[in-house]
Formats: sequence, C-alpha cells, structure tokens
Amino acid sequence: MSEPHLIVLFGATGDLAKRKLLPGIMHLLTSGLVPDLRLIGVSTHEYDDETFREFAEQAIREFSKRPVDDPGLRDFLQRLAFVPVSEGPEALAKQAAEYEGELRESHGADPGRLHYLSVPPSAALSVITTLEQAGLVERAKVIMEKPFGTDLESAQQLNAEIHTVLDERQIYRIDHFLGKEAALNILAFRFANGLFEPIWNRNFIDYVQIDVPETLSLEGRAGFYEGTGAFKDMVVTHLFQVMAFMAMEPPTALDSGAIGEEKNKVFRSMLPLDVTKVVRGQYKGYRDEEGVDPASDTETFIALRAEIDNWRWADVPFYLRTGKRMGEGARIISIAFREPPKSMFSADSGIGLAGADHLTFDLADASKMSLSYYGKRPGPGMRLQKLSMQFSTEDTGEADEVLEAYERLIYDATRGERTLFTTAAGIERLWEVSAPLLDNPPPLEFYEPGSYGPDSVQELIAPRRWRLPFERKWRESHTPK
Ligand code: BG6
Repeated sequence: MSEPHLIVLFGATGDLAKRKLLPGIMHLLTSGLVPDLRLIGVSTHEYDDETFREFAEQAIREFSKRPVDDPGLRDFLQRLAFVPVSEGPEALAKQAAEYEGELRESHGADPGRLHYLSVPPSAALSVITTLEQAGLVERAKVIMEKPFGTDLESAQQLNAEIHTVLDERQIYRIDHFLGKEAALNILAFRFANGLFEPIWNRNFIDYVQIDVPETLSLEGRAGFYEGTGAFKDMVVTHLFQVMAFMAMEPPTALDSGAIGEEKNKVFRSMLPLDVTKVVRGQYKGYRDEEGVDPASDTETFIALRAEIDNWRWADVPFYLRTGKRMGEGARIISIAFREPPKSMFSADSGIGLAGADHLTFDLADASKMSLSYYGKRPGPGMRLQKLSMQFSTEDTGEADEVLEAYERLIYDATRGERTLFTTAAGIERLWEVSAPLLDNPPPLEFYEPGSYGPDSVQELIAPRRWRLPFERKWRESHTPK
C-alpha cells in the first residue's frame, strides 16, 4: 500500500483526465490502494471547485469500467478542489497547504506529493516552473506524458531543462502500454517459466510482429495529432517499449534499475531505421476532418521493419504496424517460430498452409495468449490443420482484479516504484534511431478507412504475411464468469 497523497493534476479538464485519470484515481482511493488523498485540478478552464466536481462526477459515471458506488463517489468528490492556471502559483500553493494540512492532521505525517502533467509538451516546462514557484517540488514525484520531445535534440533539451528543477529520480515518464496487465504478462511468461526462454532467440524465432491497428480516428484531438502523427504518437512510445519487453535479456532483478538497463540495451542495439522499410499512410478523408490541414502530410498509419543487432536477435525482423481508422482494434504481438528443416508430410496434407507456428500475446485489458501449431485433422489419412492452445484472463474468474494501466502506473508512482516508467536515456536513444525517418520521411500512401493500410504493407513483410485479420477468431470463453 502507498501513503496518503496530495495529487495535483494539470490538464484536469482534458480528455485523458476525463477518460482515465479521474476514474482511475478514484479507484485507487476506494480500493484502499492509496489510503487517503486530496486532489487539486489545474487547467486553463475557469472552473471553481463545484464545477470541477461536477465535471469529475460526470467523467467517472461515463468512463469508469466498474460499477459506480454512490457513497464512494461522493466521498471522492469531496476531496477535489480546482485552481485555474490564471490564478497563478500563489493560489495553488494556498490550496496545497490547506489540503496537506488536513492530511497531516489525519495521519500525523507529511503526505506524499504526486503531480500529474497531463499537458502537451509545450506546456510541461511552464507547469514545472509553476510547481517550483508554488514550493511543491520538494519530495514530489512528477508523472509526465509523452511525447517526450519530437526528436533527439528537443528531447535532450527538454530533459536538460527539466533537470534544472527536478532530479531524474523524481520524474516518472509514463507509457501506459507498459502498465497493461498483458504487457507484464510477457515478463511473467518469459522469466517465470523454463519452457520458452531457451528458444527465445534467432535460432528458433523467424520474425516478430507488433500490430496495433485502431478503429478510432482523431477523437477530437486534431490539434495534437496533426503535429504528431502515428509514428511519434504510437511507435516511439508504445510499440518500441513493448518490443523491448519482448526482446530484452533476463534482468538481474525485477526492479527498475535492472529492467531499465535491459530495455535500454535493446534500444542501444537497434539499428537506425531504414526508410526503405517504412510505409507511411494516411486514411482517405483525413484531410477533410475538422482541424486538419487540407494538405496535411501527417501520417495516420505507419508500418516498419526494425532490427535489433545483437546476438539474440541478429537478422530477426520486427515488423511494427499501427494506424487510425483501420479494420479492427487490436494489440497483438506475434512471435513466429521457424519451420522444421524437413517434412515427411505430403504437399497436399495442409502442412505450412496456415503459416508458421505462432505464439501470440493479445494486450487487451484482460490479457490473452495463444500458441498455434499444426495438428492432425480428425478422420482417416494424415491431413493437417492449424490448432491453438488459448488462454484468456476472462476465463479465470480473476478478470475483475485487473488494474487498468493508468491505475497501476499512478499507484506505482505513489509508491516510488519506477520499474514500468521510461528513462531519459532510453527515450533519447529511440529518437536517435528514428532520425533517418524523421529527416527523410517516405511519401504518404493513402488507404481506405476500414482496411489494414496501404497495399505496400504486404510488400514490406513479404514473403511473410501480416497475421491480422486472423483467419481464426479467438475462442469464446467456456467458463461461466
Ligand atoms: C495513446 C495515443 O497514447 O494510446 C492514442 O495517443 C491511442 O492515439 C492510444 O489511441 C491507444 O491506447 P489503448 O490503451 O487504448 O490501446
């Protein structure tokens, strides 16, 4: 359990606060994971405490994944206050002193301080200055949202400026994909079992796909997305981070130092991106969306081949793909095993027809995994078909225990637990390997909404094939919930 906390939420009236942060922080309180808290919302809106509480109530009722308990909600709302940016650091300091006084009185000790910067990067530095002026930096933990810069130079500059006020150990750069239960399951699966780790290398693995198509489009975020695009919004952050979990060496311990070090080694081993192995796409109709430049060059889709040039992964391609307005929403990591060197099965047996054997991780909130393999089709003769062993958290009756990614990460930050947060060095290295693409982006190709990207994504991966859309659906649960 963590200690009582003062939480200052910058960007408190924004989309992320509404969908994830306010419902998530309330859950941390009602579940007792954070024993007591006060929260000060800050944003450019001219709200007062009452209007902010109404906003929070509506957000929680609409977006909480769990049934809302009315007394619990009322109790949470009583702990919220609002300070508009226009009132400056003095007003923030005053409210913080009042709330910290209450927590100190109830618990007899200084509360922890957690500041969540749910603001665009251009605003992050001024928020940090506000915190300094309000005297709220000491003993604080500060969660920062991506993008952490837009290239190597800007990331280095941002980090240098932040470090004039905050110690690196106070900064928690959040990547919510790493807080997903299913992402952590990759670590459990790899390092808690002796079965797969011996074959987790180039001798047995042919290629890896990390495929995150989304059906969503801009969701009212044109201002952010136009200047960002799919590569910076999803690949530099989420997909590369997940790739590091999949590819890293066994850490010496399950702590932030050891895991961070192994992830950074993966990033250091990455080859700079080869722009001839990148497909940039834009869905047809994007330029007509509200807030989008009619001549926009922003990609809403990206697929690329990444390479990790170390002993374990030399010559194993990692194919990454993500985009908006695609045929389905999914978050799949597929690991394809090499085929057997010789086959005694006849060519018409069906061997190889459904691709290589795969281990698949589905990073849905309640994680799923499957292992596909060739087996005998029942009946006479020796005909083969693709079978699969599947696991879904939904089948275990433990699905309600799953913490949403933001809940886990905010909880971890309150405890000073940094394992699932990204480091300045790792991020700077990712910008470094991305430089060829940022400096020389290939021309956009257009794709139909509802598709899986421009046609050339097939060439990118040929002679292999993208696994989505699956030819075979996940099996429905057989276990009553
Ligand atoms: C966010 C991106 O970080 O992740 C969004 O900014 C994207 O564009 C989202 O839709 C996807 O996250 P999740 O958890 O819904 O898959």
